[in-house]
Amino acid sequence: MTHLVSLSRAARLAGVTRAELQRRIRSGEISTFEGEVAIADLLRAYPSVSLEKTGMLEQVERIKADALPRSHDADTALPSQEVLVARIRSLGRALARTAAQAEAQGALLDELRERLIAGDAGTALLGWLDARRADIDSLPAEDGRARLIANDTFLRLMSASVKIIPSGHEFFVDGTESILAAAVRAGLRLGYGCTSGNCGECKARVVSGEVTRIADHDYVLSERERQMGYMLTCCNTAVTDVVLEAAEARTAADLPAQDIRAQIRKLEREADDLLLLHVQTPRTQTLRFMAGQRARLTLENGAERELPIASCPCDGRHLQFSVRRGDADDAFAAHLFEGQPTREMVRVQGPAGEFVLHEEATEPAVFIAIDDGIAPIKSLIEHAISIDHIEAFHLYWTVDSPDGHYHRRWCRALKETLDNFAFTPLVGAHAADLVAMVRADLADPQQPLYYLAGPSAPVRALADALMAAGIGAGRISAEALT
Ligand code: FES
Repeated sequence: MTHLVSLSRAARLAGVTRAELQRRIRSGEISTFEGEVAIADLLRAYPSVSLEKTGMLEQVERIKADALPRSHDADTALPSQEVLVARIRSLGRALARTAAQAEAQGALLDELRERLIAGDAGTALLGWLDARRADIDSLPAEDGRARLIANDTFLRLMSASVKIIPSGHEFFVDGTESILAAAVRAGLRLGYGCTSGNCGECKARVVSGEVTRIADHDYVLSERERQMGYMLTCCNTAVTDVVLEAAEARTAADLPAQDIRAQIRKLEREADDLLLLHVQTPRTQTLRFMAGQRARLTLENGAERELPIASCPCDGRHLQFSVRRGDADDAFAAHLFEGQPTREMVRVQGPAGEFVLHEEATEPAVFIAIDDGIAPIKSLIEHAISIDHIEAFHLYWTVDSPDGHYHRRWCRALKETLDNFAFTPLVGAHAADLVAMVRADLADPQQPLYYLAGPSAPVRALADALMAAGIGAGRISAEALT
């Protein structure tokens, strides 16, 4: 019996990104069987994986913090969280040993059959059988493969995986979060509206696996829908690994136009003439958008501006925008810079724009931001990280002055935490400089997809220069900010 795990689970077990695992599969180092990986192959590729290295401990701590039941009812009281986790681990180890023995016994039966067909019999056969039996009984309590199977069992208990068809996208549901919340966190665009069981727009069909309701809902599913396996993803969580049939928005045109009354939560001064504006939507009305898109903001004084969203669509409730101080008659910026608008209401309309990530592409991505073009690029990069499809990415960011690279903490965090991310800060670089740098840095500049954003004239010049250097127009996406 070959123990197979999905790509997402295999990446978690090995403690690597899904993109890294896919790279090794493409290079032929690891085989897949119908989209799954054998534990034995995984162990061969990552011989030193262990529970400690997979980041599961931190994961468990997080899950423990917000997911375990809080009931104090004596009849339903659970052992302490630590005891539960220890018991789960112990069960996982016992299961792994049983699985290893079952696998060895299966192999023994196959071999016995072959020997019988070959006419092997009598004392020699009995002697061979006894020796093999002794081998199975003396299987070590825990070897590398058994440990991986135990870890897999442990992970399955702590989080369930959800696969969406027909897209094939996969994500994990941790603790008691809803399937919808986990999907949004993973950067997927399942349909939804209220997130609280009223509208029915998050309806999806359970094809296999088990889900359980975690919140009551007013929306009524018909008897026929229930029989067909439909449920609301905002009110259910996954008990086991689940396959769901659900529609996903694939293009910007699939997303509905939204009009949300949100609130200004915070204003951070990034530079003398630049603010990072934090806007929070109501819990029941988050903004659905694609990374790289824009939204129109209207302040209480009636001033409005369309701005690129500088945050990840995996959190449509907390939106960020960079606001540059404009002319003296720019009422929008003046209100934010000089007023005290925190907690004021702000109208958010959108999304707009088609500068979005090629999500299915696995090629490396090169992001080039010119000045405030970093806003949509930041959104694209955060989304690329959350969907974990891109093999490697490189950010070039050119600004006017040496202290012009704001978002410093963000850049530093990416560099420190991602092996496949490179960041080149530049000052006053022109199109020709940028193209020369890309050609010097990349082994094959024709291979990546290029995402450019910034003021329209330099962005156009850069796109032209890249094409003149032999990069196909289809590999270049550009957002020209006014
Ligand atoms: S999102 Fe409205 S019912 Fe689930």
